[in-house]
Amino acid sequence: MHIWKVAEVERCFRVKCFGYQVIMFWCAFVVFFLALGNELHLSHATEVSVNNTENKLCLYANLMVNFSVAYEVGVNKSESVLFVLPENVTTEGSICNNTTSTLKLGFGDGHSWAVEFTKDNKTYQVDSIVFTYNLNDSSVFTNSTSNETKSVTAKPRITNVGVDTYYSCKSENVQRVESVTQTLYDVTLQAFVTNGSKSDTDTVCTADLTSTTVAPTTTVTTTAAPTSTPTPTLPTPTTGNYSIAPDFNSTACLMATFGLRIGFKQGDKVETINLVPSATEVGGACGVNSSILILTSDTITIMFTFSNDSKKFHLHALNVTVKPATGVAVVAANTNMSIWVAAVGSSYMCNKEQTLTVTETLTLYTFKLRVQPFGVEKGEFATAVECFMDSDLSFLVPIAVGVALCFLIILVLISYLIGRRKSRTGYQSV
Ligand SMILES: *[C@@H]1O[C@H](CO)[C@@H](O)[C@H](O)[C@H]1NC(C)=O
Ligand SMILES: *[C@@H]1O[C@H](CO)[C@@H](O)[C@H](O)[C@H]1NC(C)=O
Ligand SMILES: *[C@@H]1O[C@H](CO)[C@@H](O)[C@H](O)[C@H]1NC(C)=O
Ligand SMILES: *[C@@H]1O[C@H](CO)[C@@H](O)[C@H](O)[C@H]1NC(C)=O
Ligand SMILES: *[C@@H]1O[C@H](CO)[C@@H](O)[C@H](O)[C@H]1NC(C)=O
Ligand SMILES: *[C@@H]1O[C@H](CO)[C@@H](O)[C@H](O)[C@H]1NC(C)=O
Ligand SMILES: *[C@@H]1O[C@H](CO)[C@@H](O)[C@H](O)[C@H]1NC(C)=O
Ligand SMILES: *[C@@H]1O[C@H](CO)[C@@H](O)[C@H](O)[C@H]1NC(C)=O
Repeated sequence: MHIWKVAEVERCFRVKCFGYQVIMFWCAFVVFFLALGNELHLSHATEVSVNNTENKLCLYANLMVNFSVAYEVGVNKSESVLFVLPENVTTEGSICNNTTSTLKLGFGDGHSWAVEFTKDNKTYQVDSIVFTYNLNDSSVFTNSTSNETKSVTAKPRITNVGVDTYYSCKSENVQRVESVTQTLYDVTLQAFVTNGSKSDTDTVCTADLTSTTVAPTTTVTTTAAPTSTPTPTLPTPTTGNYSIAPDFNSTACLMATFGLRIGFKQGDKVETINLVPSATEVGGACGVNSSILILTSDTITIMFTFSNDSKKFHLHALNVTVKPATGVAVVAANTNMSIWVAAVGSSYMCNKEQTLTVTETLTLYTFKLRVQPFGVEKGEFATAVECFMDSDLSFLVPIAVGVALCFLIILVLISYLIGRRKSRTGYQSV
């Protein structure tokens, strides 16, 4: 029988158990950085709303801006600093008028970023962006020789935005003026908001459109389609609004809005195609126990079957036919699905991109989804049940993965140590 002496226990803590401590530390470290990385990733965008004098929304922005500013730190010596438009900004000084508006974002110690909008009958545009920075802010401009506040005026090409639509541009828009470089990206901007609510339709910047090729969904007679070039990544599909009414002059009984992309196999290649809402016909029917939505375009026919199992509904079946401009048609059906679950009388929502594997050869991707297949009243969506990916808790996923990994490592280590002790005591007892 082995009796542990105090000294031995102490030695264990210093030698063996030290290993555990290192691992624990390491784990905490990993988890912390996973969380931090995720947090940074999540919280980078700047989102603001400005209300007019009647307290109705009149300006909305959700965007990211990176600044690079060169400034003097000595005679003939300059330095440049990189920083981002912070998440927390003030909107003081923003103005909404009938044909002109200013979105002024103040941040840090006396810096500001102001966007000037003007409007004519059908469109509005950004006239200028005035970036003002305070060189006296030593937390940003360390060792600056000047303590002035400087301004630069950039003229980005943000024009022809339809009134009552928002401007959307994921691509980078780089503005270089004097010693300042501003990079705008992931931009959503709406000025002259009508009726106090942000529009559902967007005006997409040309950079987002031309960097990728839009799928030819409207013409089936195209013969000279490029077959050898790899499929370019498509832009996010346009969000369509679809509804079914039981008869001609009554309000909707089924409503759905989403952007839809379909990925399908052609031989070994995977092709993708977007559904174009403006070239899509809507059909279907509402029932007590099941409702159907059928969308038909030149290239895509898709049937959604929803089931009402008394208290909840779900998407039960999907039947998709894709007839690409070249190649063979692909048909895929799955009649045993149980997704998009919500209580009857509410709607189901998922703003994030969602992937639905229908069959091995065909996959659906939905964007900004909201559906209500039963119990629609007054042509409006009822309260929504949101998918997990939309929820604030989804940031826990990488943390959970980190924790699980750590547990695994600890387990392996413990079993290794136990194994070693066993084999050692084994030798001694023989
Ligand atoms: C903007 O700055 C952040 C942080 O400095 C960086 O991670 C990101 O890549 C930059 N984005 C662009 C478009 O320059
Ligand atoms: C600074 O640069 C100017 C011209 O670029 C030059 O004439 C001057 O001598 C420089 N001064 C110093 C201190 O290097
Ligand atoms: C700016 O710097 C000048 C000279 O370096 C100084 O006289 C002035 O008081 C400073 N102004 C502020 C607001 O710090
Ligand atoms: C529905 O349309 C029919 C004819 O198309 C009309 O007679 C009837 O009054 C309408 N009902 C309502 C509620 O508008
Ligand atoms: C709906 O389902 C219930 C029970 O599942 C059944 O009693 C009822 O007859 C069905 N209604 C219709 C219209 O099919
Ligand atoms: C859903 O089904 C239940 C019975 O299965 C029925 O009582 C209820 O009216 C249905 N809901 C709708 C909105 O059709
Ligand atoms: C799917 O639709 C096609 C064409 O409309 C039809 O031939 C096929 O039977 C359907 N499959 C299922 C499982 O409903
Ligand atoms: C449907 O799925 C369930 C469980 O996922 C399975 O038990 C059942 O056999 C499936 N039915 C069909 C027709 O594939």
